[in-house]
Amino acid sequence: MPTNKKLLILAGDGIGPEVMTQVKRVLDWFAKNQALKFDVEDDLVGGCAIDKHGMPLTDETMAKAMKADAVLLGAVGGPKWDNLPFEIKPERGLLRLRKDMELFANLRPAIVFDALAEASSLKTELVAGLDIVIVRELTGGVYFGSPRGIETLPNGERRGINTQVYTTSEIVRVARVAFELARKRGRKVCSVEKANVMESGVLWREEVTKLHKAEYSDVELSHMYADNCAMQLVRQPKQFDVIVTDNLFGDLLSDCAAMLTGSLGMLPSASLGAPDANGRRKALYEPVHGTAPDIAGKDLANPLACLLSLAMMFRYSFDLGSSADLLEQAAKNVVAAGFRTGDIMAAGCTKVSTTRMGDEILKELDRLAK
Ligand code: IPM
Ligand code: MG
Repeated sequence: MPTNKKLLILAGDGIGPEVMTQVKRVLDWFAKNQALKFDVEDDLVGGCAIDKHGMPLTDETMAKAMKADAVLLGAVGGPKWDNLPFEIKPERGLLRLRKDMELFANLRPAIVFDALAEASSLKTELVAGLDIVIVRELTGGVYFGSPRGIETLPNGERRGINTQVYTTSEIVRVARVAFELARKRGRKVCSVEKANVMESGVLWREEVTKLHKAEYSDVELSHMYADNCAMQLVRQPKQFDVIVTDNLFGDLLSDCAAMLTGSLGMLPSASLGAPDANGRRKALYEPVHGTAPDIAGKDLANPLACLLSLAMMFRYSFDLGSSADLLEQAAKNVVAAGFRTGDIMAAGCTKVSTTRMGDEILKELDRLAK
Protein backbone atom coordinates (compact mmCIF):
# COMPACT_ATOMS: atom_id res chain seq x y z
CA MET A 1 0.00 0.00 0.00
CA PRO A 2 1.53 3.35 -1.01
CA THR A 3 0.00 5.55 1.73
CA ASN A 4 -1.22 4.42 5.09
CA LYS A 5 -4.97 4.08 5.40
CA LYS A 6 -6.57 6.09 8.17
CA LEU A 7 -8.63 4.17 10.72
CA LEU A 8 -10.71 5.74 13.42
CA ILE A 9 -11.38 3.44 16.35
CA LEU A 10 -14.35 4.22 18.57
CA ALA A 11 -14.37 1.46 21.17
CA GLY A 12 -17.32 2.92 23.07
CA ASP A 13 -18.77 1.48 26.26
CA GLY A 14 -19.18 -1.79 28.14
CA ILE A 15 -17.36 -4.65 26.45
CA GLY A 16 -16.49 -2.38 23.49
CA PRO A 17 -12.98 -1.49 24.73
CA GLU A 18 -12.15 -5.10 25.66
CA VAL A 19 -13.06 -6.57 22.30
CA MET A 20 -11.39 -3.65 20.51
CA THR A 21 -8.13 -4.40 22.33
CA GLN A 22 -8.07 -7.75 20.55
CA VAL A 23 -8.80 -6.03 17.24
CA LYS A 24 -5.76 -3.81 17.76
CA ARG A 25 -3.55 -6.80 18.49
CA VAL A 26 -4.73 -8.40 15.26
CA LEU A 27 -4.17 -5.16 13.35
CA ASP A 28 -0.60 -5.16 14.67
CA TRP A 29 -0.20 -8.72 13.45
CA PHE A 30 -1.26 -7.72 9.94
CA ALA A 31 1.07 -4.70 10.05
CA LYS A 32 3.99 -6.90 11.02
CA ASN A 33 3.26 -9.91 8.85
CA GLN A 34 1.49 -8.55 5.80
CA ALA A 35 2.76 -4.98 5.70
CA LEU A 36 -0.75 -3.62 6.06
CA LYS A 37 0.01 -0.28 7.62
CA PHE A 38 -2.85 1.67 9.11
CA ASP A 39 -2.73 4.98 10.93
CA VAL A 40 -4.97 4.31 13.89
CA GLU A 41 -6.57 7.02 15.94
CA ASP A 42 -8.78 6.42 18.97
CA ASP A 43 -11.69 8.54 20.07
CA LEU A 44 -14.84 8.45 22.15
CA VAL A 45 -18.44 7.67 21.31
CA GLY A 46 -21.45 6.93 23.49
CA GLY A 47 -21.47 6.98 27.28
CA CYS A 48 -17.72 7.53 27.62
CA ALA A 49 -18.04 10.63 25.42
CA ILE A 50 -20.96 11.85 27.57
CA ASP A 51 -18.81 11.45 30.69
CA LYS A 52 -15.95 13.44 29.17
CA HIS A 53 -17.70 15.99 26.94
CA GLY A 54 -21.35 15.94 27.98
CA MET A 55 -22.47 14.60 24.61
CA PRO A 56 -22.29 11.19 22.92
CA LEU A 57 -20.34 12.39 19.87
CA THR A 58 -18.49 15.70 19.52
CA ASP A 59 -18.23 17.62 16.24
CA GLU A 60 -14.47 16.98 16.32
CA THR A 61 -14.97 13.23 16.48
CA MET A 62 -17.59 13.44 13.75
CA ALA A 63 -15.11 15.35 11.56
CA LYS A 64 -12.47 12.65 12.12
CA ALA A 65 -14.97 9.98 11.13
CA MET A 66 -15.73 11.84 7.91
CA LYS A 67 -12.04 11.93 7.02
CA ALA A 68 -11.19 8.36 7.98
CA ASP A 69 -10.88 5.62 5.37
CA ALA A 70 -12.85 3.40 7.75
CA VAL A 71 -14.31 3.59 11.24
CA LEU A 72 -14.29 0.64 13.63
CA LEU A 73 -16.80 0.80 16.45
CA GLY A 74 -17.21 -1.37 19.55
CA ALA A 75 -20.57 -0.76 21.21
CA VAL A 76 -22.40 2.10 22.90
CA GLY A 77 -24.75 2.47 25.87
CA GLY A 78 -25.31 1.08 29.32
CA PRO A 79 -27.47 1.41 32.42
CA LYS A 80 -25.41 4.35 33.70
CA TRP A 81 -26.78 6.56 30.91
CA ASP A 82 -30.29 5.08 30.59
CA ASN A 83 -32.06 7.98 32.25
CA LEU A 84 -30.48 10.80 30.28
CA PRO A 85 -32.61 13.01 28.06
CA PHE A 86 -33.27 11.29 24.75
CA GLU A 87 -31.19 13.68 22.65
CA ILE A 88 -27.95 12.97 24.49
CA LYS A 89 -28.32 9.24 25.04
CA PRO A 90 -25.26 7.19 23.99
CA GLU A 91 -27.18 5.66 21.05
CA ARG A 92 -27.57 9.12 19.49
CA GLY A 93 -23.83 9.15 18.87
CA LEU A 94 -24.02 6.00 16.78
CA LEU A 95 -27.11 7.20 14.94
CA ARG A 96 -25.39 10.50 14.11
CA LEU A 97 -22.38 8.66 12.70
CA ARG A 98 -24.63 6.56 10.49
CA LYS A 99 -26.70 9.55 9.36
CA ASP A 100 -23.93 12.10 8.77
CA MET A 101 -21.68 9.58 7.00
CA GLU A 102 -24.75 8.51 4.94
CA LEU A 103 -24.15 4.84 5.70
CA PHE A 104 -27.40 3.68 4.18
CA ALA A 105 -26.51 0.02 3.61
CA ASN A 106 -25.91 -2.16 6.63
CA LEU A 107 -24.66 -5.67 5.83
CA ARG A 108 -25.27 -8.19 8.58
CA PRO A 109 -24.13 -11.67 7.62
CA ALA A 110 -25.33 -14.62 9.68
CA ILE A 111 -22.95 -17.48 9.10
CA VAL A 112 -22.97 -20.65 11.15
CA PHE A 113 -19.48 -22.01 11.80
CA ASP A 114 -19.60 -25.80 11.51
CA ALA A 115 -18.20 -26.19 15.00
CA LEU A 116 -20.94 -23.99 16.42
CA ALA A 117 -23.99 -25.49 14.72
CA GLU A 118 -24.86 -27.16 17.99
CA ALA A 119 -24.68 -23.88 19.92
CA SER A 120 -27.71 -22.61 18.04
CA SER A 121 -31.04 -22.64 19.80
CA LEU A 122 -32.42 -24.36 16.68
CA LYS A 123 -31.90 -27.97 15.67
CA THR A 124 -28.46 -28.52 14.15
CA GLU A 125 -29.75 -29.64 10.75
CA LEU A 126 -31.74 -26.42 10.37
CA VAL A 127 -28.69 -24.19 10.80
CA ALA A 128 -25.67 -26.27 9.75
CA GLY A 129 -24.03 -24.48 6.81
CA LEU A 130 -26.26 -21.42 7.13
CA ASP A 131 -24.90 -18.42 5.23
CA ILE A 132 -27.28 -15.51 4.79
CA VAL A 133 -26.92 -11.73 4.75
CA ILE A 134 -29.39 -9.17 5.92
CA VAL A 135 -29.07 -5.85 4.13
CA ARG A 136 -30.67 -3.35 6.45
CA GLU A 137 -31.51 0.19 5.33
CA LEU A 138 -29.76 2.32 7.94
CA THR A 139 -30.36 6.04 7.46
CA GLY A 140 -34.09 6.31 6.89
CA GLY A 141 -37.43 4.95 8.01
CA VAL A 142 -38.93 5.35 11.43
CA TYR A 143 -35.54 5.89 13.09
CA PHE A 144 -35.16 9.26 11.40
CA GLY A 145 -38.58 10.26 9.98
CA SER A 146 -40.38 13.38 11.11
CA PRO A 147 -42.59 14.42 12.74
CA ARG A 148 -41.25 12.79 15.85
CA GLY A 149 -41.38 13.55 19.52
CA ILE A 150 -43.57 13.44 22.59
CA GLU A 151 -46.31 16.05 22.89
CA THR A 152 -48.94 16.87 25.46
CA LEU A 153 -52.49 17.01 24.16
CA PRO A 154 -55.08 19.60 25.29
CA ASN A 155 -56.73 16.97 27.48
CA GLY A 156 -53.45 16.40 29.30
CA GLU A 157 -52.75 13.04 27.66
CA ARG A 158 -49.32 12.63 26.14
CA ARG A 159 -48.66 11.34 22.63
CA GLY A 160 -45.43 9.80 21.29
CA ILE A 161 -44.86 10.12 17.54
CA ASN A 162 -42.48 8.56 15.06
CA THR A 163 -42.88 8.48 11.32
CA GLN A 164 -42.03 5.69 8.94
CA VAL A 165 -41.00 7.34 5.70
CA TYR A 166 -39.10 6.20 2.60
CA THR A 167 -38.44 7.89 -0.72
CA THR A 168 -37.91 6.01 -3.98
CA SER A 169 -34.20 6.84 -4.10
CA GLU A 170 -33.67 5.57 -0.56
CA ILE A 171 -35.33 2.28 -1.47
CA VAL A 172 -33.58 1.89 -4.80
CA ARG A 173 -30.05 2.49 -3.53
CA VAL A 174 -30.29 -0.09 -0.76
CA ALA A 175 -32.06 -2.61 -3.03
CA ARG A 176 -29.22 -2.16 -5.51
CA VAL A 177 -26.68 -3.10 -2.84
CA ALA A 178 -28.71 -6.24 -2.10
CA PHE A 179 -28.96 -7.28 -5.76
CA GLU A 180 -25.26 -6.66 -6.37
CA LEU A 181 -24.37 -8.71 -3.31
CA ALA A 182 -26.71 -11.54 -4.36
CA ARG A 183 -24.94 -11.72 -7.72
CA LYS A 184 -21.73 -12.59 -5.87
CA ARG A 185 -23.52 -15.22 -3.75
CA GLY A 186 -26.63 -17.35 -4.23
CA ARG A 187 -28.44 -14.94 -6.62
CA LYS A 188 -31.55 -14.69 -4.45
CA VAL A 189 -33.03 -11.61 -2.82
CA CYS A 190 -35.99 -11.61 -0.46
CA SER A 191 -37.41 -8.12 0.05
CA VAL A 192 -39.17 -7.65 3.37
CA GLU A 193 -41.78 -5.06 4.46
CA LYS A 194 -45.37 -4.83 5.65
CA ALA A 195 -47.06 -3.85 2.40
CA ASN A 196 -50.28 -5.32 3.76
CA VAL A 197 -50.62 -2.53 6.33
CA MET A 198 -48.14 0.25 5.46
CA GLU A 199 -48.01 2.54 2.43
CA SER A 200 -44.25 2.86 2.84
CA GLY A 201 -44.20 -0.92 2.44
CA VAL A 202 -46.31 -0.74 -0.73
CA LEU A 203 -43.85 1.76 -2.19
CA TRP A 204 -40.91 -0.38 -1.05
CA ARG A 205 -42.30 -3.42 -2.85
CA GLU A 206 -43.09 -1.48 -6.04
CA GLU A 207 -39.67 0.12 -6.25
CA VAL A 208 -37.77 -3.10 -5.57
CA THR A 209 -39.86 -4.88 -8.21
CA LYS A 210 -39.20 -2.11 -10.76
CA LEU A 211 -35.47 -2.13 -10.18
CA HIS A 212 -35.39 -5.90 -10.40
CA LYS A 213 -37.18 -5.90 -13.75
CA ALA A 214 -35.02 -3.15 -15.18
CA GLU A 215 -31.57 -4.32 -14.09
CA TYR A 216 -31.44 -7.50 -12.07
CA SER A 217 -33.73 -10.08 -13.65
CA ASP A 218 -30.86 -12.61 -13.41
CA VAL A 219 -31.38 -12.54 -9.62
CA GLU A 220 -34.37 -14.37 -8.14
CA LEU A 221 -36.58 -11.91 -6.24
CA SER A 222 -39.24 -12.76 -3.68
CA HIS A 223 -41.25 -10.59 -1.28
CA MET A 224 -42.21 -11.36 2.27
CA TYR A 225 -44.07 -9.61 5.08
CA ALA A 226 -41.79 -8.88 8.01
CA ASP A 227 -43.76 -10.93 10.53
CA ASN A 228 -43.65 -13.94 8.22
CA CYS A 229 -39.92 -13.39 7.71
CA ALA A 230 -39.33 -13.53 11.47
CA MET A 231 -41.18 -16.82 11.50
CA GLN A 232 -39.39 -18.21 8.43
CA LEU A 233 -36.00 -17.29 9.91
CA VAL A 234 -36.57 -19.65 12.80
CA ARG A 235 -38.48 -22.23 10.77
CA GLN A 236 -36.31 -22.69 7.69
CA PRO A 237 -33.47 -20.15 7.68
CA LYS A 238 -31.57 -21.78 4.83
CA GLN A 239 -34.30 -20.75 2.34
CA PHE A 240 -32.71 -17.26 2.33
CA ASP A 241 -29.65 -15.87 0.61
CA VAL A 242 -29.89 -12.06 0.83
CA ILE A 243 -32.69 -10.32 2.73
CA VAL A 244 -33.21 -6.61 2.10
CA THR A 245 -35.37 -4.65 4.49
CA ASP A 246 -35.94 -1.32 6.19
CA ASN A 247 -34.24 0.14 9.23
CA LEU A 248 -36.57 -1.07 11.99
CA PHE A 249 -37.42 -4.49 10.55
CA GLY A 250 -33.72 -4.96 9.81
CA ASP A 251 -32.86 -4.20 13.43
CA LEU A 252 -35.26 -6.88 14.66
CA LEU A 253 -34.64 -9.51 12.02
CA SER A 254 -30.86 -9.23 12.28
CA ASP A 255 -30.92 -9.98 16.02
CA CYS A 256 -33.08 -12.97 15.23
CA ALA A 257 -30.74 -14.14 12.44
CA ALA A 258 -27.74 -13.52 14.67
CA MET A 259 -29.03 -15.88 17.31
CA LEU A 260 -29.34 -18.66 14.73
CA THR A 261 -25.56 -18.73 14.72
CA GLY A 262 -25.41 -19.57 18.40
CA SER A 263 -24.50 -16.21 19.86
CA LEU A 264 -24.78 -12.51 19.21
CA GLY A 265 -21.08 -12.54 20.02
CA MET A 266 -20.31 -13.97 16.58
CA LEU A 267 -21.97 -11.45 14.28
CA PRO A 268 -20.07 -8.69 12.46
CA SER A 269 -21.53 -5.89 10.38
CA ALA A 270 -20.50 -3.35 7.76
CA SER A 271 -22.30 -0.06 7.18
CA LEU A 272 -21.53 1.43 3.80
CA GLY A 273 -22.20 4.69 2.01
CA ALA A 274 -22.40 5.32 -1.72
CA PRO A 275 -19.13 5.09 -3.68
CA ASP A 276 -17.66 8.50 -4.58
CA ALA A 277 -16.02 9.40 -7.93
CA ASN A 278 -12.93 7.38 -6.95
CA GLY A 279 -14.98 4.37 -5.93
CA ARG A 280 -14.25 5.08 -2.26
CA ARG A 281 -17.11 4.45 0.18
CA LYS A 282 -17.48 5.82 3.67
CA ALA A 283 -17.71 2.85 5.96
CA LEU A 284 -18.19 1.85 9.57
CA TYR A 285 -17.65 -1.65 10.94
CA GLU A 286 -19.14 -2.87 14.19
CA PRO A 287 -20.21 -6.04 15.91
CA VAL A 288 -23.99 -6.54 16.06
CA HIS A 289 -23.84 -7.19 19.82
CA GLY A 290 -24.29 -4.46 22.39
CA THR A 291 -22.28 -3.40 25.42
CA ALA A 292 -23.20 -6.41 27.61
CA PRO A 293 -22.95 -4.42 30.89
CA ASP A 294 -23.32 -7.61 32.97
CA ILE A 295 -19.95 -8.95 31.82
CA ALA A 296 -18.16 -5.69 30.95
CA GLY A 297 -14.66 -5.24 32.31
CA LYS A 298 -14.32 -8.90 33.29
CA ASP A 299 -12.40 -10.19 30.27
CA LEU A 300 -15.29 -12.54 29.45
CA ALA A 301 -16.67 -11.06 26.23
CA ASN A 302 -16.43 -12.81 22.88
CA PRO A 303 -14.16 -10.71 20.63
CA LEU A 304 -14.98 -12.67 17.47
CA ALA A 305 -17.84 -10.44 16.23
CA CYS A 306 -15.53 -7.43 16.40
CA LEU A 307 -12.66 -9.36 14.78
CA LEU A 308 -14.96 -10.56 12.01
CA SER A 309 -16.01 -6.91 11.54
CA LEU A 310 -12.33 -6.15 10.98
CA ALA A 311 -12.30 -8.88 8.31
CA MET A 312 -15.28 -7.17 6.66
CA MET A 313 -13.30 -3.92 6.71
CA PHE A 314 -10.40 -5.60 4.93
CA ARG A 315 -12.78 -6.91 2.29
CA TYR A 316 -15.16 -4.01 1.71
CA SER A 317 -13.02 -0.93 2.36
CA PHE A 318 -9.58 -2.04 1.21
CA ASP A 319 -10.19 -4.86 -1.23
CA LEU A 320 -7.97 -7.10 0.90
CA GLY A 321 -10.00 -10.24 0.33
CA SER A 322 -7.17 -12.62 1.14
CA SER A 323 -6.47 -10.92 4.48
CA ALA A 324 -10.18 -11.11 5.27
CA ASP A 325 -10.22 -14.81 4.34
CA LEU A 326 -7.19 -15.44 6.52
CA LEU A 327 -8.72 -13.79 9.58
CA GLU A 328 -12.06 -15.55 9.07
CA GLN A 329 -10.30 -18.88 8.70
CA ALA A 330 -8.33 -18.25 11.90
CA ALA A 331 -11.59 -17.55 13.75
CA LYS A 332 -13.18 -20.74 12.38
CA ASN A 333 -10.17 -22.85 13.30
CA VAL A 334 -9.89 -21.49 16.82
CA VAL A 335 -13.56 -22.20 17.47
CA ALA A 336 -13.24 -25.65 15.87
CA ALA A 337 -10.25 -26.37 18.10
CA GLY A 338 -12.61 -25.90 21.04
CA PHE A 339 -11.59 -22.50 22.37
CA ARG A 340 -14.78 -20.83 23.53
CA THR A 341 -15.81 -17.74 25.42
CA GLY A 342 -18.74 -18.26 27.80
CA ASP A 343 -21.43 -17.32 25.26
CA ILE A 344 -20.48 -20.21 22.91
CA MET A 345 -19.15 -22.63 25.52
CA ALA A 346 -20.02 -26.31 25.03
CA ALA A 347 -19.22 -29.55 26.82
CA GLY A 348 -15.65 -30.73 26.25
CA CYS A 349 -14.45 -27.30 25.06
CA THR A 350 -11.90 -24.99 26.69
CA LYS A 351 -13.45 -21.92 28.26
CA VAL A 352 -11.32 -18.88 27.49
CA SER A 353 -11.21 -15.20 28.34
CA THR A 354 -11.41 -12.35 25.83
CA THR A 355 -7.63 -11.98 25.97
CA ARG A 356 -6.98 -15.69 25.60
CA MET A 357 -9.28 -15.80 22.57
CA GLY A 358 -7.11 -13.02 21.12
CA ASP A 359 -3.97 -15.05 21.92
CA GLU A 360 -5.38 -18.09 20.13
CA ILE A 361 -6.35 -16.05 17.07
CA LEU A 362 -2.82 -14.64 16.86
CA LYS A 363 -1.30 -18.10 17.19
CA GLU A 364 -3.60 -19.42 14.50
CA LEU A 365 -2.74 -16.50 12.19
CA ASP A 366 0.94 -17.35 12.69
CA ARG A 367 0.25 -20.98 11.86
CA LEU A 368 -1.87 -20.23 8.78
CA ALA A 369 0.62 -17.71 7.43
CA LYS A 370 3.56 -20.12 7.56
C1 IPM B 1 -28.14 -2.05 16.22
C2 IPM B 1 -28.50 -1.45 17.55
C3 IPM B 1 -28.75 0.03 17.35
C4 IPM B 1 -29.97 0.18 16.44
C5 IPM B 1 -28.89 0.87 18.63
C6 IPM B 1 -27.72 0.68 19.56
C7 IPM B 1 -29.09 2.33 18.31
O1 IPM B 1 -29.59 -2.11 18.08
O2 IPM B 1 -27.16 -1.58 15.61
O3 IPM B 1 -28.80 -2.99 15.79
O4 IPM B 1 -31.12 0.16 16.91
O5 IPM B 1 -29.76 0.32 15.25
MG1 MG C 1 -30.14 -3.91 17.03
